[in-house]
Amino acid sequence: MQKITIAVDGYSSCGKSTTAKKVAARLGYSYIDTGAMYRAVTLYFYQHLVTITNEKDVAKALDNIQIEFRRNPNDGRNETYLNGLNVEDEIRKLYIANQVSEVSAIAEVRHAMVAQQRKMGKKKGVVMDGRDIGTVVFPDAELKIFMTADPIIRANRRQIELNERGDLVDIEEIIDNIKKRDLLDTTRKESPLRKAEDAIDVDTSYMTLDEQVEMVCILADEALSRA
Ligand code: DC
Repeated sequence: MQKITIAVDGYSSCGKSTTAKKVAARLGYSYIDTGAMYRAVTLYFYQHLVTITNEKDVAKALDNIQIEFRRNPNDGRNETYLNGLNVEDEIRKLYIANQVSEVSAIAEVRHAMVAQQRKMGKKKGVVMDGRDIGTVVFPDAELKIFMTADPIIRANRRQIELNERGDLVDIEEIIDNIKKRDLLDTTRKESPLRKAEDAIDVDTSYMTLDEQVEMVCILADEALSRA
């Protein structure tokens, strides 16, 4: 059966990963959370005290980083593994979110991650979410979605998500983190977050998760019929 590549880019906490995950499950596609890869690199750098301004240190660290996704047999969740260890919960914490934009702005880090992402998605039948999937990783993706949402709504969603994980964080701190990340992600030199010309805008501010999934699935059907 014909399969396509679906790129879901956009700001943090717009519902990209939750939507992408559900769309992938509906279509029987694999789902790749590229933000988790940058978060795992950030965790490694943090744990190994890597000086991010030292190119040699960064290159050496990247050589020692292996990231994979494994399905949890109990709940079917896709979990992130860093060098064989499950880091899914750790990489979602705010101390990682506070450092990840700086780490993901490093050219060497991006080159290493993009190479892995292209390998992971080369057979198509993949939904990949991130910031540069439609512009850099898979510029030929048959369907490109660019998600946005009101920053306050995004912060509220993030707070609920963090609370559910037991991370009780003040809303002001989250708004601050979102604003800083938006700024760093859109202004960095190396593949900044921007909408691909042929991407479709989806503003999720007032959409339910089901509506978001439905919309992307309809767009995927249309893209499949064109492919
Ligand atoms: O999607 P997320 O919030 O988990 O992503 C974490 C950070 O990683 C985000 O601030 C920007 C960066 N990122 C990136 O630069 N490129 C990607 N393809 C995915 C994420």
